[in-house]
Amino acid sequence: VANSWLHLTHNCSDYVLDKKSIASDSFGARDCGWVEQMRPFVRQFSHDGDVILDPFCGFASTLVAAELEGRKGLGVEVEPSRVNIARERLASLGLNSSRVVEGDAGRIQTLLGTSPCLVDLVLSNIPYFGCHWSGDTRGQLYAVPTYEEYLQEMRACFRELKNILKPSGYIILMVENIRIGDHFVALAADILRLLQERFLFVDERIIVYDSEDQNENEVLGNRAHEHVLIAQHIAKPIDTALTRLYLEGLSQTFPAIIVYGSFAQWLFDQSRQPSDVDIMLPYDLRLIESVVDWFMTKGFKVSRWGTFIEPGCVKAAIPGGNYFRAEYLDAEGRLMNFDISFSSENTLYKMFEAKAIQTSECIRVVREAVNL
Ligand SMILES: C[S@@+](CC[C@H](N)C(=O)[O-])C[C@H]1O[C@@H](n2cnc3c(N)ncnc32)[C@H](O)[C@@H]1O
Repeated sequence: VANSWLHLTHNCSDYVLDKKSIASDSFGARDCGWVEQMRPFVRQFSHDGDVILDPFCGFASTLVAAELEGRKGLGVEVEPSRVNIARERLASLGLNSSRVVEGDAGRIQTLLGTSPCLVDLVLSNIPYFGCHWSGDTRGQLYAVPTYEEYLQEMRACFRELKNILKPSGYIILMVENIRIGDHFVALAADILRLLQERFLFVDERIIVYDSEDQNENEVLGNRAHEHVLIAQHIAKPIDTALTRLYLEGLSQTFPAIIVYGSFAQWLFDQSRQPSDVDIMLPYDLRLIESVVDWFMTKGFKVSRWGTFIEPGCVKAAIPGGNYFRAEYLDAEGRLMNFDISFSSENTLYKMFEAKAIQTSECIRVVREAVNL
Protein backbone atom coordinates (compact mmCIF):
# COMPACT_ATOMS: atom_id res chain seq x y z
CA VAL A 1 0.00 0.00 0.00
CA ALA A 2 2.28 2.74 -1.26
CA ASN A 3 -0.40 5.43 -1.24
CA SER A 4 -1.79 6.66 2.03
CA TRP A 5 -5.18 5.37 0.88
CA LEU A 6 -6.50 2.06 -0.40
CA HIS A 7 -9.66 1.94 -2.49
CA LEU A 8 -11.50 -1.37 -2.17
CA THR A 9 -14.09 -2.00 -4.83
CA HIS A 10 -15.28 -5.56 -4.26
CA ASN A 11 -15.04 -8.49 -1.89
CA CYS A 12 -13.48 -11.44 -3.74
CA SER A 13 -16.13 -14.15 -4.02
CA ASP A 14 -13.59 -16.98 -3.54
CA TYR A 15 -13.10 -16.08 0.08
CA VAL A 16 -16.33 -14.44 1.27
CA LEU A 17 -18.03 -15.85 4.33
CA ASP A 18 -20.60 -18.44 3.22
CA LYS A 19 -24.35 -17.80 3.51
CA LYS A 20 -24.91 -20.53 6.13
CA SER A 21 -22.36 -18.95 8.50
CA ILE A 22 -23.87 -15.49 7.97
CA ALA A 23 -27.35 -16.82 8.75
CA SER A 24 -26.16 -18.60 11.90
CA ASP A 25 -24.53 -15.48 13.37
CA SER A 26 -26.71 -13.46 15.77
CA PHE A 27 -25.36 -10.25 14.20
CA GLY A 28 -25.78 -11.51 10.65
CA ALA A 29 -21.96 -11.22 10.42
CA ARG A 30 -22.41 -7.55 9.57
CA ASP A 31 -19.06 -6.81 11.23
CA CYS A 32 -17.19 -9.27 9.01
CA GLY A 33 -14.29 -7.62 7.17
CA TRP A 34 -12.87 -8.36 3.75
CA VAL A 35 -9.92 -10.64 3.07
CA GLU A 36 -8.74 -8.07 0.44
CA GLN A 37 -8.64 -5.45 3.15
CA MET A 38 -5.97 -7.39 5.04
CA ARG A 39 -3.81 -8.92 2.31
CA PRO A 40 -1.84 -5.77 1.33
CA PHE A 41 -0.95 -5.17 4.98
CA VAL A 42 0.12 -8.79 5.48
CA ARG A 43 2.40 -8.47 2.44
CA GLN A 44 3.89 -5.14 3.40
CA PHE A 45 4.39 -5.60 7.14
CA SER A 46 5.42 -9.26 7.51
CA HIS A 47 7.55 -11.94 5.87
CA ASP A 48 7.04 -15.49 4.64
CA GLY A 49 6.29 -17.90 7.48
CA ASP A 50 5.65 -15.13 10.04
CA VAL A 51 2.95 -15.45 12.69
CA ILE A 52 0.13 -12.94 12.28
CA LEU A 53 -2.13 -12.44 15.27
CA ASP A 54 -5.67 -11.10 15.11
CA PRO A 55 -6.73 -10.64 18.75
CA PHE A 56 -10.36 -9.94 17.68
CA CYS A 57 -10.50 -12.46 14.89
CA GLY A 58 -14.27 -12.77 14.35
CA PHE A 59 -14.78 -14.96 11.29
CA ALA A 60 -11.04 -15.30 10.57
CA SER A 61 -10.78 -12.96 7.56
CA THR A 62 -7.30 -11.88 8.74
CA LEU A 63 -6.20 -15.50 9.15
CA VAL A 64 -7.42 -16.33 5.65
CA ALA A 65 -5.42 -13.35 4.32
CA ALA A 66 -2.36 -14.44 6.33
CA GLU A 67 -2.43 -17.99 4.96
CA LEU A 68 -3.05 -16.88 1.38
CA GLU A 69 0.14 -14.83 1.69
CA GLY A 70 2.18 -17.72 3.10
CA ARG A 71 2.01 -16.69 6.78
CA LYS A 72 0.59 -18.50 9.80
CA GLY A 73 -2.54 -17.07 11.37
CA LEU A 74 -3.32 -16.95 15.06
CA GLY A 75 -6.75 -15.70 16.09
CA VAL A 76 -8.41 -14.96 19.41
CA GLU A 77 -12.17 -14.60 19.52
CA VAL A 78 -14.39 -14.26 22.58
CA GLU A 79 -17.67 -15.52 21.04
CA PRO A 80 -17.74 -19.36 21.01
CA SER A 81 -20.13 -19.51 18.04
CA ARG A 82 -17.77 -17.32 15.98
CA VAL A 83 -14.80 -19.46 16.95
CA ASN A 84 -16.62 -22.40 15.36
CA ILE A 85 -17.47 -20.41 12.23
CA ALA A 86 -13.85 -19.24 11.95
CA ARG A 87 -12.47 -22.77 12.26
CA GLU A 88 -14.99 -24.13 9.76
CA ARG A 89 -14.21 -21.35 7.30
CA LEU A 90 -10.47 -22.05 7.43
CA ALA A 91 -11.05 -25.79 7.06
CA SER A 92 -13.42 -25.34 4.12
CA LEU A 93 -10.77 -23.27 2.32
CA GLY A 94 -8.17 -25.96 3.02
CA LEU A 95 -6.13 -23.55 5.14
CA ASN A 96 -4.58 -25.46 8.00
CA SER A 97 -1.61 -23.50 9.35
CA SER A 98 -3.79 -21.18 11.43
CA ARG A 99 -5.10 -21.56 14.95
CA VAL A 100 -8.19 -19.97 16.51
CA VAL A 101 -8.28 -19.72 20.30
CA GLU A 102 -11.46 -18.98 22.23
CA GLY A 103 -11.18 -16.28 24.88
CA ASP A 104 -10.71 -12.67 25.87
CA ALA A 105 -7.93 -10.70 24.15
CA GLY A 106 -7.47 -8.80 27.42
CA ARG A 107 -5.98 -12.02 28.86
CA ILE A 108 -4.15 -13.15 25.79
CA GLN A 109 -0.90 -14.07 27.51
CA THR A 110 -2.58 -16.52 29.88
CA LEU A 111 -4.75 -17.72 27.06
CA LEU A 112 -1.90 -18.55 24.72
CA GLY A 113 0.35 -19.71 27.55
CA THR A 114 3.39 -19.02 25.42
CA SER A 115 6.73 -17.45 26.07
CA PRO A 116 6.81 -13.72 25.26
CA CYS A 117 7.70 -12.35 21.82
CA LEU A 118 5.87 -14.89 19.75
CA VAL A 119 4.03 -12.78 17.22
CA ASP A 120 5.51 -11.01 14.17
CA LEU A 121 2.52 -8.83 13.29
CA VAL A 122 -0.74 -7.91 15.01
CA LEU A 123 -3.41 -7.08 12.43
CA SER A 124 -7.02 -6.50 13.34
CA ASN A 125 -10.34 -4.91 12.75
CA ILE A 126 -11.23 -3.95 16.31
CA PRO A 127 -14.65 -4.39 17.94
CA TYR A 128 -16.43 -1.04 17.97
CA PHE A 129 -18.18 0.57 20.89
CA GLY A 130 -21.97 0.96 20.86
CA CYS A 131 -22.95 -2.10 18.85
CA HIS A 132 -26.13 -3.03 20.78
CA TRP A 133 -24.94 -6.59 21.24
CA SER A 134 -27.52 -8.90 22.76
CA GLY A 135 -25.37 -11.83 23.97
CA ASP A 136 -23.89 -12.21 27.42
CA THR A 137 -20.42 -13.64 26.76
CA ARG A 138 -17.98 -12.46 29.41
CA GLY A 139 -15.34 -10.10 28.01
CA GLN A 140 -17.38 -9.22 24.88
CA LEU A 141 -16.30 -5.65 24.07
CA TYR A 142 -19.41 -5.06 21.95
CA ALA A 143 -21.46 -5.28 25.13
CA VAL A 144 -19.52 -2.85 27.35
CA PRO A 145 -22.07 -0.25 28.60
CA THR A 146 -19.96 2.93 28.74
CA TYR A 147 -17.30 4.43 26.50
CA GLU A 148 -14.86 4.91 29.39
CA GLU A 149 -15.06 1.21 30.32
CA TYR A 150 -14.63 0.26 26.68
CA LEU A 151 -11.44 2.34 26.40
CA GLN A 152 -10.08 0.86 29.64
CA GLU A 153 -10.66 -2.65 28.28
CA MET A 154 -8.91 -1.76 25.02
CA ARG A 155 -6.01 -0.35 27.01
CA ALA A 156 -5.73 -3.67 28.87
CA CYS A 157 -5.61 -5.49 25.53
CA PHE A 158 -2.78 -3.26 24.25
CA ARG A 159 -0.79 -3.92 27.43
CA GLU A 160 -1.09 -7.66 26.80
CA LEU A 161 -0.29 -7.33 23.09
CA LYS A 162 2.92 -5.44 23.79
CA ASN A 163 4.20 -8.46 25.71
CA ILE A 164 3.65 -10.91 22.88
CA LEU A 165 4.63 -8.80 19.86
CA LYS A 166 8.25 -9.20 18.78
CA PRO A 167 10.47 -6.13 19.16
CA SER A 168 10.19 -3.97 16.03
CA GLY A 169 7.04 -5.89 14.97
CA TYR A 170 4.03 -3.88 13.77
CA ILE A 171 0.56 -3.58 15.24
CA ILE A 172 -2.01 -2.46 12.67
CA LEU A 173 -5.55 -1.65 13.72
CA MET A 174 -8.49 -0.72 11.52
CA VAL A 175 -11.05 1.58 13.09
CA GLU A 176 -13.56 4.28 12.19
CA ASN A 177 -14.75 7.34 13.98
CA ILE A 178 -18.41 6.57 14.64
CA ARG A 179 -21.83 8.02 15.23
CA ILE A 180 -23.66 6.96 18.36
CA GLY A 181 -27.10 8.49 18.69
CA ASP A 182 -26.63 12.20 18.08
CA HIS A 183 -22.93 12.06 18.91
CA PHE A 184 -19.93 11.80 16.65
CA VAL A 185 -17.37 9.80 18.62
CA ALA A 186 -13.66 10.06 17.80
CA LEU A 187 -13.10 6.34 18.30
CA ALA A 188 -10.15 6.16 15.90
CA ALA A 189 -8.48 9.11 17.61
CA ASP A 190 -9.02 7.64 21.08
CA ILE A 191 -7.73 4.22 20.05
CA LEU A 192 -4.66 5.90 18.59
CA ARG A 193 -4.05 7.74 21.86
CA LEU A 194 -4.14 4.43 23.77
CA LEU A 195 -1.98 2.72 21.17
CA GLN A 196 0.62 5.45 21.51
CA GLU A 197 0.97 4.80 25.24
CA ARG A 198 2.81 1.57 24.39
CA PHE A 199 3.77 1.63 20.71
CA LEU A 200 5.30 4.11 18.30
CA PHE A 201 2.75 5.44 15.80
CA VAL A 202 4.60 5.28 12.47
CA ASP A 203 2.05 5.70 9.69
CA GLU A 204 -1.60 5.60 8.70
CA ARG A 205 -3.72 4.61 5.73
CA ILE A 206 -7.32 5.29 4.87
CA ILE A 207 -9.37 2.49 3.34
CA VAL A 208 -12.11 3.83 1.10
CA TYR A 209 -15.13 1.76 0.10
CA ASP A 210 -17.73 2.51 -2.54
CA SER A 211 -20.97 3.24 -0.79
CA GLU A 212 -24.43 3.01 -2.32
CA ASP A 213 -25.78 5.10 0.48
CA GLN A 214 -25.27 8.46 -1.26
CA ASN A 215 -27.32 11.52 -0.53
CA GLU A 216 -25.77 14.68 -1.84
CA ASN A 217 -28.06 16.89 0.19
CA GLU A 218 -27.03 15.33 3.49
CA VAL A 219 -24.68 17.41 5.63
CA LEU A 220 -23.35 14.32 7.36
CA GLY A 221 -21.18 12.00 5.26
CA ASN A 222 -21.81 8.27 5.03
CA ARG A 223 -19.33 6.07 6.89
CA ALA A 224 -17.49 4.59 3.94
CA HIS A 225 -13.89 4.79 5.05
CA GLU A 226 -11.72 3.34 7.77
CA HIS A 227 -8.53 4.52 9.45
CA VAL A 228 -5.67 2.06 9.46
CA LEU A 229 -3.41 2.89 12.40
CA ILE A 230 0.11 1.54 11.97
CA ALA A 231 2.31 1.38 15.06
CA GLN A 232 5.52 -0.41 15.88
CA HIS A 233 6.99 -2.08 18.93
CA ILE A 234 10.03 0.18 19.16
CA ALA A 235 11.03 3.06 21.35
CA LYS A 236 10.78 6.61 20.11
CA PRO A 237 14.22 7.83 19.10
CA ILE A 238 14.99 10.71 21.47
CA ASP A 239 17.58 13.44 20.86
CA THR A 240 20.21 12.36 23.38
CA ALA A 241 22.45 15.47 23.08
CA LEU A 242 19.59 17.87 23.72
CA THR A 243 18.25 15.64 26.50
CA ARG A 244 21.63 15.64 28.21
CA LEU A 245 21.71 19.44 28.09
CA TYR A 246 18.24 19.75 29.61
CA LEU A 247 19.04 17.14 32.24
CA GLU A 248 22.09 19.12 33.26
CA GLY A 249 19.96 22.27 33.69
CA LEU A 250 17.32 20.33 35.59
CA SER A 251 19.86 18.74 37.95
CA GLN A 252 21.46 22.09 38.68
CA THR A 253 18.08 23.64 39.51
CA PHE A 254 16.87 20.62 41.52
CA PRO A 255 19.87 18.76 43.02
CA ALA A 256 17.55 16.25 44.75
CA ILE A 257 16.60 14.47 41.53
CA ILE A 258 18.11 11.08 40.80
CA VAL A 259 18.39 9.63 37.29
CA TYR A 260 18.11 5.87 36.80
CA GLY A 261 17.28 3.44 33.98
CA SER A 262 18.51 3.43 30.39
CA PHE A 263 19.57 7.08 30.23
CA ALA A 264 21.63 6.76 33.43
CA GLN A 265 23.46 3.86 31.80
CA TRP A 266 23.82 5.72 28.52
CA LEU A 267 25.65 8.54 30.32
CA PHE A 268 28.49 6.05 30.95
CA ASP A 269 28.20 3.79 27.92
CA GLN A 270 26.70 5.03 24.65
CA SER A 271 26.34 1.59 23.04
CA ARG A 272 22.57 1.37 23.66
CA GLN A 273 20.20 4.17 22.65
CA PRO A 274 17.86 5.15 25.53
CA SER A 275 14.19 5.92 24.84
CA ASP A 276 13.54 8.21 27.78
CA VAL A 277 14.98 9.60 31.00
CA ASP A 278 13.73 8.12 34.26
CA ILE A 279 13.99 10.49 37.16
CA MET A 280 13.04 9.83 40.78
CA LEU A 281 11.97 12.56 43.18
CA PRO A 282 11.57 12.54 46.95
CA TYR A 283 7.94 12.83 48.09
CA ASP A 284 7.97 16.58 48.59
CA LEU A 285 4.82 18.10 47.09
CA ARG A 286 6.32 21.54 46.49
CA LEU A 287 9.40 20.08 44.87
CA ILE A 288 7.37 17.78 42.58
CA GLU A 289 5.16 20.68 41.56
CA SER A 290 8.18 22.89 40.86
CA VAL A 291 9.87 20.20 38.76
CA VAL A 292 6.72 19.67 36.67
CA ASP A 293 6.33 23.45 36.29
CA TRP A 294 9.96 23.62 35.11
CA PHE A 295 9.13 21.18 32.32
CA MET A 296 5.94 23.04 31.40
CA THR A 297 7.66 26.42 31.15
CA LYS A 298 10.28 24.87 28.83
CA GLY A 299 7.54 23.76 26.41
CA PHE A 300 7.07 20.14 27.52
CA LYS A 301 3.63 18.53 27.31
CA VAL A 302 2.95 16.85 30.65
CA SER A 303 0.63 13.86 30.89
CA ARG A 304 -0.23 10.82 32.96
CA TRP A 305 -1.32 7.70 31.06
CA GLY A 306 -2.12 9.73 27.99
CA THR A 307 -4.18 12.38 29.81
CA PHE A 308 -2.78 15.92 29.65
CA ILE A 309 -2.13 17.75 32.88
CA GLU A 310 -2.96 21.44 32.59
CA PRO A 311 -0.67 24.01 34.19
CA GLY A 312 -2.25 24.88 37.54
CA CYS A 313 -3.58 21.34 38.03
CA VAL A 314 -0.26 19.69 38.90
CA LYS A 315 -0.58 20.02 42.69
CA ALA A 316 -4.02 18.40 42.66
CA ALA A 317 -2.78 15.56 40.44
CA ILE A 318 0.22 14.57 42.58
CA PRO A 319 -1.56 12.47 45.26
CA GLY A 320 -3.50 10.57 42.58
CA GLY A 321 -0.50 8.72 41.19
CA ASN A 322 3.24 8.36 41.34
CA TYR A 323 4.20 9.33 37.84
CA PHE A 324 4.14 12.08 35.20
CA ARG A 325 5.46 12.00 31.66
CA ALA A 326 7.02 15.13 30.15
CA GLU A 327 7.41 15.07 26.38
CA TYR A 328 8.93 17.70 24.09
CA LEU A 329 8.95 17.86 20.32
CA ASP A 330 10.32 20.84 18.43
CA ALA A 331 9.94 22.00 14.86
CA GLU A 332 13.24 20.33 13.92
CA GLY A 333 11.80 16.95 14.97
CA ARG A 334 13.93 16.75 18.13
CA LEU A 335 12.21 14.68 20.77
CA MET A 336 12.77 14.43 24.53
CA ASN A 337 10.97 12.21 26.99
CA PHE A 338 11.21 12.35 30.77
CA ASP A 339 9.39 9.99 33.16
CA ILE A 340 9.06 11.67 36.55
CA SER A 341 8.46 9.19 39.40
CA PHE A 342 7.81 9.63 43.12
CA SER A 343 5.99 7.67 45.77
CA SER A 344 4.49 8.65 49.07
CA GLU A 345 6.37 5.81 50.84
CA ASN A 346 9.67 7.27 49.63
CA THR A 347 11.39 3.87 50.03
CA LEU A 348 12.62 3.77 46.44
CA TYR A 349 13.99 7.28 46.63
CA LYS A 350 15.90 6.39 49.80
CA MET A 351 17.28 3.25 48.19
CA PHE A 352 18.37 5.27 45.13
CA GLU A 353 19.89 7.96 47.33
CA ALA A 354 22.13 5.39 48.98
CA LYS A 355 23.37 4.18 45.58
CA ALA A 356 23.56 7.50 43.70
CA ILE A 357 26.81 8.85 42.30
CA GLN A 358 27.47 12.19 40.63
CA THR A 359 28.58 12.67 37.03
CA SER A 360 30.91 15.47 35.95
CA GLU A 361 27.82 17.48 34.87
CA CYS A 362 26.50 17.24 38.47
CA ILE A 363 23.76 14.79 37.50
CA ARG A 364 23.01 12.29 40.29
CA VAL A 365 22.58 8.81 38.84
CA VAL A 366 22.00 5.23 39.85
CA ARG A 367 24.16 3.43 37.36
CA GLU A 368 22.98 -0.17 37.60
CA ALA A 369 19.80 -1.47 35.93
CA VAL A 370 16.77 -1.18 38.20
CA ASN A 371 13.45 -2.93 37.71
CA LEU A 372 10.60 -0.91 39.20
C1 LIG B 1 -14.85 -6.31 13.88
S1 LIG B 1 -15.06 -7.94 14.42
C2 LIG B 1 -13.74 -8.74 13.62
C3 LIG B 1 -14.15 -9.30 12.31
C4 LIG B 1 -12.99 -9.95 11.61
N1 LIG B 1 -12.02 -8.98 11.19
C5 LIG B 1 -13.47 -10.73 10.39
O1 LIG B 1 -13.53 -10.12 9.30
O2 LIG B 1 -13.77 -11.87 10.48
C6 LIG B 1 -14.50 -7.87 16.09
C7 LIG B 1 -14.59 -9.18 16.83
O3 LIG B 1 -14.04 -9.01 18.13
C8 LIG B 1 -14.70 -9.91 18.99
N2 LIG B 1 -14.42 -9.52 20.39
C9 LIG B 1 -15.07 -8.62 21.15
N3 LIG B 1 -14.51 -8.53 22.37
C10 LIG B 1 -13.46 -9.39 22.37
C11 LIG B 1 -12.48 -9.75 23.34
N4 LIG B 1 -12.45 -9.20 24.56
N5 LIG B 1 -11.54 -10.66 23.01
C12 LIG B 1 -11.56 -11.25 21.77
N6 LIG B 1 -12.47 -10.97 20.83
C13 LIG B 1 -13.40 -10.03 21.12
C14 LIG B 1 -16.14 -9.80 18.57
O4 LIG B 1 -16.90 -10.93 19.01
C15 LIG B 1 -16.00 -9.71 17.05
O5 LIG B 1 -16.12 -10.97 16.47
